Amino acid sequence: MRNFLVIFYALLKLGLAIAPFQVQCPSSPLIREAKYEICPEESVYLKKKEIKTKNRLIDFLKSLTEAKFNSKFYKRVLKDPPKLGIAISGGGYRSMLVGTGFITQMNDYGLFEYSDYIAGLSGGSWILMDLVVQNFEANSLLQEWDLEEDLLLGIPEFDISEEEIVTNARKEYKDDDIRMRKRQESTQITNFSKFYEQMEIFANSVEERSEDGRITKRNLNPLTRLKKIFFPNNTFTEADTKIETFKTVLDFYKNLHLKIKPKKIEGFQISFTDYWGKAIVQRLKKNFDDDPDHTFSFSKLVHSSKKFKEYSVPIPIFVANCKNGLLSNIIFEFTPFEFGSWDSMLRLFVKLPYLGSKIISGKAIKCVNNFDDLGFITATSSSIFNNVLIFIWNLASQSSREAVKALNMVMGIFGLGKEEIFSISKESSRLETDYAVYQPNPFYLYPEKDNVLTNKDHLYLVDGGEDGENIPLRTLVIPERKLDVIFVLDSSSDIDNYPNGSKLKKIFEKLDEENVHYQFPKNIRALTRPVVIGCNATKRSGHDSFLPIIVYHANAYHGYVSNTSTFKITYNQSEVNNMLLTGRKVFSNDYDPHYKNCLGCILTKRTMDRLPRKKKFSPFCLQCFKDYCYS
Ligand SMILES: *[C@@H]1O[C@H](CO)[C@@H](O)[C@H](O)[C@H]1NC(C)=O
Ligand SMILES: *[C@@H]1O[C@H](CO)[C@@H](O)[C@H](O)[C@H]1NC(C)=O
Ligand SMILES: *[C@@H]1O[C@H](CO)[C@@H](O)[C@H](O)[C@H]1NC(C)=O
Ligand SMILES: *[C@@H]1O[C@H](CO)[C@@H](O)[C@H](O)[C@H]1NC(C)=O
Ligand SMILES: *[C@@H]1O[C@H](CO)[C@@H](O)[C@H](O)[C@H]1NC(C)=O
Ligand SMILES: *[C@@H]1O[C@H](CO)[C@@H](O)[C@H](O)[C@H]1NC(C)=O
Repeated sequence: MRNFLVIFYALLKLGLAIAPFQVQCPSSPLIREAKYEICPEESVYLKKKEIKTKNRLIDFLKSLTEAKFNSKFYKRVLKDPPKLGIAISGGGYRSMLVGTGFITQMNDYGLFEYSDYIAGLSGGSWILMDLVVQNFEANSLLQEWDLEEDLLLGIPEFDISEEEIVTNARKEYKDDDIRMRKRQESTQITNFSKFYEQMEIFANSVEERSEDGRITKRNLNPLTRLKKIFFPNNTFTEADTKIETFKTVLDFYKNLHLKIKPKKIEGFQISFTDYWGKAIVQRLKKNFDDDPDHTFSFSKLVHSSKKFKEYSVPIPIFVANCKNGLLSNIIFEFTPFEFGSWDSMLRLFVKLPYLGSKIISGKAIKCVNNFDDLGFITATSSSIFNNVLIFIWNLASQSSREAVKALNMVMGIFGLGKEEIFSISKESSRLETDYAVYQPNPFYLYPEKDNVLTNKDHLYLVDGGEDGENIPLRTLVIPERKLDVIFVLDSSSDIDNYPNGSKLKKIFEKLDEENVHYQFPKNIRALTRPVVIGCNATKRSGHDSFLPIIVYHANAYHGYVSNTSTFKITYNQSEVNNMLLTGRKVFSNDYDPHYKNCLGCILTKRTMDRLPRKKKFSPFCLQCFKDYCYS
């Protein structure tokens, strides 16, 4: 009885702390129509930040002995300091680790805190979550992550391509037969031996499957690996070990279940992404549930961070793509201030703390706070990992009925079965739950915007990687943000889990449709060094401002094979250190002092370009542009 009470109390506490809760609606509008400008809070933040951090840039410039800038030059720069942004691509832990090294190196140069924005997508968004949790201390990154524990317990590591995950998951999920299959067993484990019976059937059918070449990937097929985790020695007699393994795995998922429950009880639609979000947060060593006042609201966490309150760090932007009406490449963003899209279809934003509120035709009906859970937002941006789970589920469902039954049950017990989790009501069970579901849609029936983004009471958001848009660049290129230089780190998996520039090229094609013209360089010498694009000052069409310079960095071999699989979900300390070192080398061009001096020229180029009477660049800088710039 006492235990029961303790559990009950813990649940109550969890419910109060984590679920969105109702608040009074403010009298001012919650929705902003974005005409020409970023929101006032963002604009104020940047103005104060400029005053706060511009000397960091001067310190950096002064440290460059080859470039030989003089005091007149520093004065010019202080009058019109360049605005920098950082874009970190997707790519799972690979991207997060290389990206963390990249940022650490930027920080050593004094350029990280000087930057105005850092945008992240998928694996890149995990860095943003880490930054927020670490109060934006770049040197404390990764301290809270437990990289040696599986990111998702019980799920084997994959060495298959993102494309495979995406297309297979999507294709098979459409199968009504699969979707409508009834749940076989209850979510409670009341009888372990029954569970084992099912697992044996499952495991045996897996054995059959593994002879089928269709699902055999590079080495072991995923199901065989899954089986290896459950039955490490390929025997079914070691009951004790099995029970321990199962218990650990089950506890992990049961725990996720408990954490999702309060949101569901509050009447919100739940999707795979909710589980995934809790799973990522669970990889942080700090237990956020122990703090009774704990909230994991993105807006609250950011605004309570000391460095953010002092205007001394970049604004984090999480990026995700919208899938309403089978759209592709429609980008949404979460900043600490707002959620919405700059896409010409919408150009509307809701105040982030009120995400999850019921707003119809722009009028607030019922307001909530705390829907903007940092884990949920991170998981939305990295929802490609949902598909790992769906992928496994679907592989099995192509095989024998028993396998389907058994796996359905296993997933059900893990809290990942389809029927029992997702159908809180008959209507909502029809939602596509492998997308992150944002319901209510804050832009529902917004006047004079009648399209698929506004005519449904929910938004489906996914990982940009699903649209091949794996670099969060477009959110930074918009004229409203007025950036001068954008550092891109691309850890996509194009060839052998290294990028070859194709993701950037794709985004340039997309930008072209929006009248923003970058040339993808045809003659890149090597991706092991930074590629600077758009140095020559070109005016944006229809604007008086210049296009930002893009400094593109690819994850590449710098003495370590940093092309680990996107779905590698554990790293040991020496692997972590090597990935971080790779990131540092990627940013610094292998600690090249000449390149560091050239960075001074690149960073200040737009300041010079903007002078009313053209000033000549120094011969040193002209040579740098020759060495690093592509048209
Ligand atoms: C568990 O299941 C097995 C086999 O189905 C059965 O023999 C046993 O009685 C069950 N135990 C309980 C406690 O229900
Ligand atoms: C597998 O078998 C070996 C000995 O054959 C034993 O030491 C080990 O503990 C077993 N592992 C598991 C997980 O059962
Ligand atoms: C890493 O790259 C090398 C070639 O550069 C390739 O042989 C290897 O298979 C790649 N590893 C992975 C995990 O993709
Ligand atoms: C990158 O590799 C892909 C796949 O091999 C290829 O289709 C594409 O043309 C390459 N892109 C570039 C920019 O080299
Ligand atoms: C870490 O993993 C690598 C393989 O990537 C292995 O060679 C190395 O021995 C491991 N180090 C430790 C300390 O376990
Ligand atoms: C930039 O402009 C200069 C002068 O107009 C020209 O000589 C140079 O080729 C251009 N460079 C690139 C990379 O377009």
